[in-house]
Amino acid sequence: MNEKETQFYEGKAKKLFTVKGHPDEVIQEFKDDATAFNAQKRGSWAHKGEVNCAMSTALFQMLERSGIRTHFVEQLSAVDMLVKRLEIVPLEVIVRNIAAGSFSKRYGVPEGKEFKHPTFEFSYKDDALGDPLINDSHALAMELATEDEIDHIRHTALKINDILKAFFRERGIILVDFKLEFGRHKGEILLGDEISPDTCRFWDAQTRKKLDKDRFRQDLGGVEEAYAEMLKRVTEPVA
Ligand code: TMP
Repeated sequence: MNEKETQFYEGKAKKLFTVKGHPDEVIQEFKDDATAFNAQKRGSWAHKGEVNCAMSTALFQMLERSGIRTHFVEQLSAVDMLVKRLEIVPLEVIVRNIAAGSFSKRYGVPEGKEFKHPTFEFSYKDDALGDPLINDSHALAMELATEDEIDHIRHTALKINDILKAFFRERGIILVDFKLEFGRHKGEILLGDEISPDTCRFWDAQTRKKLDKDRFRQDLGGVEEAYAEMLKRVTEPVA
């Protein structure tokens, strides 16, 4: 039995608990709450936690089958996931295939521009600073990660992009961009956190309809339905 012991962290979308008798593992509970724009905008909708837990489970399992090492151990309930305890590298790892969001805003590139080569960037995970963009040399100088770790994270994130892009293409979804987090566990770097419509941008390949958290960020409506649709695409067998 994996029992929740003590809540030791509450973030914007998840709570973390220690596990009785298993110091190397953690239970992450997915909440229905959402924030955007560094928590200036807040909301909540039904089944968000369940969708993000189920979708992350399916994607972590798929990535593991493709040779990516993740923190995933087991889905315990609709909203609870048993994972390996990580020492999180405080970098948000962002890969983009199409311009959108902060990339479009920062560089004046219209949303929807397809890149011939995916982009790779880090943000420094610090809410008080608003998660600023950071480069490798800054991350090294600040001792957030070693050179080897940065190389490994970049290589792994781009490999994950190839795997996810193909996976979603088969399901009629364009993977626009996504954010990953990595952490250290017993001397190894593992993929952590979640992979969900909170942390990725997904567009329907035919209609280009947004099926992710941008519906909440931009007040487009139909958020709950979009999340449900994404879970369906991920979990239903491909025709
Ligand atoms: P951005 O265009 O706002 O920089 O977002 C890039 C991707 O990262 C997008 O798929 C949403 C995701 N993301 C998070 O998961 N957490 C965050 O705090 C932010 C800002 C973006």
